[in-house]
Amino acid sequence: MLDGRVKVAIQAPGHIKEVTAVARFFTHAVDQLSGEQLQMVQTGQQSLNGKIIYFKLAKTPSVGAEGYQLLVTPEAIHLQANQPRGLFYGIQSLLQTMPKIRTNQLLRIPCMEIKDSPSFRWRGMMLDVSRHFFAPELVKEFIDLLATYKMNTFHWHLVDGAGWRIEIKKYPKLTSQAAWRVDDFDQVWNWSDIKFNRNPDSATYGGYYTQDQIRDIVTYAAKRYITIVPEIEMPGHSEAAMAAYPEFSCLPHKSSFKQSGNFYAHTTQSNYCPGNDSAFIFIENVLKEVMALFPSKYIHVGGDEVDKTSWKNCPLCQARMKKEGLKTEEELQSYFMQRIERFLNANGRKMIGWDEILEGGLAPQATVMSWRGESGGIKAAQMGHDVVMSPGTPLYFDHYQGDPASEPRAIGGFNTLKMVYNYKPVPAQLSQAEASHVLGAQANLWTEYIPTYEQVEYMILPRMLALSEVLWSPESVRNWKDFNRRLRPQLVGFAQKGLHYSKGNFKVDIKPENKNGQLMLSLETENENGVIYYTTDGTEPTTGSTCYTAPFLVDHSMRVKAGLAINHSMVKAPAATRTFTFNKATGKSVKYVHLNSKYYPANGLATLTDGMRGTTEIGHQWHAFSGQDMIAQIDFGQTTTAGYMALGCLQQYDQWIFYPKWVKFEVSMDGKNFKVVATIDNTVPTTDRAGQFKDFSAKFSTQSFRYLRVTAKNLGECPAGHPGAGKPGSAWLFCDEIIVQ
Ligand code: ACM
Ligand code: ZN
Repeated sequence: MLDGRVKVAIQAPGHIKEVTAVARFFTHAVDQLSGEQLQMVQTGQQSLNGKIIYFKLAKTPSVGAEGYQLLVTPEAIHLQANQPRGLFYGIQSLLQTMPKIRTNQLLRIPCMEIKDSPSFRWRGMMLDVSRHFFAPELVKEFIDLLATYKMNTFHWHLVDGAGWRIEIKKYPKLTSQAAWRVDDFDQVWNWSDIKFNRNPDSATYGGYYTQDQIRDIVTYAAKRYITIVPEIEMPGHSEAAMAAYPEFSCLPHKSSFKQSGNFYAHTTQSNYCPGNDSAFIFIENVLKEVMALFPSKYIHVGGDEVDKTSWKNCPLCQARMKKEGLKTEEELQSYFMQRIERFLNANGRKMIGWDEILEGGLAPQATVMSWRGESGGIKAAQMGHDVVMSPGTPLYFDHYQGDPASEPRAIGGFNTLKMVYNYKPVPAQLSQAEASHVLGAQANLWTEYIPTYEQVEYMILPRMLALSEVLWSPESVRNWKDFNRRLRPQLVGFAQKGLHYSKGNFKVDIKPENKNGQLMLSLETENENGVIYYTTDGTEPTTGSTCYTAPFLVDHSMRVKAGLAINHSMVKAPAATRTFTFNKATGKSVKYVHLNSKYYPANGLATLTDGMRGTTEIGHQWHAFSGQDMIAQIDFGQTTTAGYMALGCLQQYDQWIFYPKWVKFEVSMDGKNFKVVATIDNTVPTTDRAGQFKDFSAKFSTQSFRYLRVTAKNLGECPAGHPGAGKPGSAWLFCDEIIVQ
């Protein structure tokens, strides 16, 4: 029991100050939770009696630099580590056993004995502050969350096309202009045309961190044993920098202050010009100030997604390639990265970049952050380079973590808590020696769709807890079901502290499947501690509703709602809801002539007959065809009659998705000779930017047939004036459902 009679004893010869600071972190937390002020003493100075909490720095075998050893008995708590940071993590473990807010409950710590150390050195979280700016106080709250869960690296994405967020004294326009943009509240920000602040009066959105604020945040993080790795993006994703200093881009005379947050912006230059030595001087001057602020060994220099068109057309870049014997623009990027690496190394730092830095030749000392899956990380590790794994699946925390129908709008993708929990940072194909290059992993929070700090919390909680366990605990002791059990008090704590978090893990998936020409629904949840209840009449499920045991048939239109009960009580989260529209094609299997659904596979081959209709939300229900026509065929298995047919389609100009030119319905008795029953031309202008969907439908005299073929003619190329114009095959075609009545 912790009360005012308990003393805190420091045993840390030569490190009294640092360990006292760590112990204060603990006594402060206890004070906040209970109002009890624990007395601090140094052992050796007085004889101790009563209850004691020892903070001891001493040789502690087999826990390494970050581990600790903890023994709690009725009389004393002995916390021991090799380094103060180990003691800090021991404190976090102690705090895990306590209430999360002050409740006037007595603080008790259960007796236990722990020897604990992390599996990985790099336990990271990235926050993008370019797309949306988060105030210094909020960045500290983010750091607090990382510290609570023993993360040790904060990757601060300070710079991107949408705004420059770090004060650089030598180049004031970076923050006086490129930190501010004219935002359009009507549109998802990253598809609107963004203008930076040439006229300060018209800038409505943005912000930056002064160097003083950054120093303060770096110190704050260091006290929590978190290293901040700053990222200064180059050579691409640099629209903001180029808006302020167009002279360092390839075609300064053509530069326009009008920017787009879309990184493949056509209205501006997104890249530094590697043919121009002045651009390197600019970057080096920026990096000098960055290095003075951040003691981190690693400096992140981006390197991802460089559209090299400007380099292809730039005389300076082409001259550089000739002079240096570079055959491709990829090699030109490699030249760029290697030159920056030499500069960082000469200043005692190490370069880290996204996996594109492998293309054209990896800089000799570089560490690779693998985001396009793990292949870049695998390749780099096999080459003997260090890597940090942050594959989009499952470590992009800007993706959905529950059923998109009931989650706040996210960028797309789907990374559930369980997917994160099951992640293994070391790919199986690496040898032991190669595996030693995997420093760890990190989750990335890009903020295109995250305008508020509340939403930041929501997207990382509780997924960061799963990642923390992946990075800290050995695989042999990880257990998904047990994690869910241990997560419960954490979630209660989030709610008590007013932290926003997702209940996506409690969601039930309503999964349609075409089976023998019928539509069957199965209900699944990744939470293994509960029971699913459902209704088919649109009412809210309760523990009195049907308990799910096996897949069931959809033979009429219905609204299914399903929820999870844990310990005989429904979880307080919105029930999963799906509406199924039944028609003669529902549940029939579809064969495609083309199957190109790289980005939005929806429900795969079942999408067009799964009874589920799409909305303007592109992540749902829509099967996507890039540049190709959709040609689908259904065999009804027997003679069928119909006098109405329709195909649902989507148009989203800003997402490069267009209605088909026309839709054609053909029927056949033998599957060989088809007869056209209807062709419906598109009447909506392709330049209509409003997100919309509609059925291309036709009524006709009743037809008898066994086979149906539906063709939707892809627009092919985006219309004039669109960024995709002039690129054959650039248009996407999205379809959700075939209706036969
Ligand atoms: C990235 O997501 N472009 C690193
Ligand atoms: Zn150039």
